[in-house]
Amino acid sequence: MYVCLCHAITDTQIKAAVSQGDCSLADVKKRLGVADQCGKCARMATNIIQTQLEYE
Ligand code: FES
Repeated sequence: MYVCLCHAITDTQIKAAVSQGDCSLADVKKRLGVADQCGKCARMATNIIQTQLEYE
């Protein structure tokens, strides 16, 4: 599902970024550009990152 509409970034991409070592929104923002435009996706992206960190 799309999380960041500004950059067409999906939850799968965010989870993959966490699997590759990202552990914060700042990390994923640097890697994918998530939440660097309107910012509306920041909360959902953060939730996905936290859930994925607990899972790993
Ligand atoms: Fe992610 Fe706008 S929806 S920056």
